[in-house]
Amino acid sequence: MTATQSTIEKFRRPDNGRRPTPPPGGFAARSLVSVDDLSRDDIEYVLALTEYYASYLKMGARPAQRLAGKTQINLFFESSTRTNMSFELAGKKLGADVINVPVAASSVNKDESLLDTAQTLAAMAAHVMILRHRQPGAQATLRDRLPCPIINAGDGAREHPTQALLDAATIRSAFYETEGLTVAICGDIAHSRVAASDAKLLHRLGMNVRFVGPESLMPAEGDMSFAPRFHSLEEGLAGADVVMALRMQFERMDADEAERADRATYFEKFGLTHETIEFAEPEALVMHPGPMNRNVEICGDLADDPTRSLVLTQVYYGVPTRMACLDAIMNRQGD
Ligand code: NCD
Repeated sequence: MTATQSTIEKFRRPDNGRRPTPPPGGFAARSLVSVDDLSRDDIEYVLALTEYYASYLKMGARPAQRLAGKTQINLFFESSTRTNMSFELAGKKLGADVINVPVAASSVNKDESLLDTAQTLAAMAAHVMILRHRQPGAQATLRDRLPCPIINAGDGAREHPTQALLDAATIRSAFYETEGLTVAICGDIAHSRVAASDAKLLHRLGMNVRFVGPESLMPAEGDMSFAPRFHSLEEGLAGADVVMALRMQFERMDADEAERADRATYFEKFGLTHETIEFAEPEALVMHPGPMNRNVEICGDLADDPTRSLVLTQVYYGVPTRMACLDAIMNRQGD
């Protein structure tokens, strides 16, 4: 049985199958640029909606077409498999007209600015824009300059809020009680937007988040100080219920950093394997946002072990989580 199947079988159907109701006063976030845009009520609503839509996916049933007649534009300036495809599927499952902008063949190559490109696309009566861009803060700059809401699908090393939500949904699907769980985020935290969004969101949900890795890959001093830092797997994994590996993000490192981050040395000291996972709790589960570099941050055998790995469950949750985000944002009261 794959990790995805085993987790799907554990799904609890949301309260008697009814659509969760928005928080009192309505869903607050107009755009989703950072996990900080979400109130605790918003987060719980998105996670409840995620389970609701997951139950449709599990049954192969079509949910109410809550985005019918709406236009969703996916604008990805960086490579993506999971995020782009799951946003596309999510929009289509809810009845939206979804356009994937072919960035490589667009006027971006004629030196059009990001603002002009985004405003041009939004002018085609877009109802939502999903943006991935290497520039930290790109979405924050655009959010008030576009007529439609914007969802951040990754901005440089800064934030990736929907990944954090799908990771929270994955953890909730695997553990009965998630408050008080210990989550060790391992590896290249400094360059990871996933680490930044996940750490903040999981901490707000009452989990104990910690960072494990070499000093050179830790976030800046004083950043996310709620998370203790460890420089060895033995210390950092002790007591961990969830161990999250991250890709070494060479494309975001400068030349000096990349030279120091030697793959083989890294695996020797920080690679997650069936042996090193023994430092964690006996039933600890392993996560990775993907794309994985096998035998750099995680050994292939461990990533593929359905009794230990939630990697494909994370991919699975990508679709219902993004359905939930699109629905919550595009069907806000008063909009
Ligand atoms: C990540 C990303 O692009 O931020 N992947 C993802 O969205 N699932 C992580 C990475 O690039 O390593």
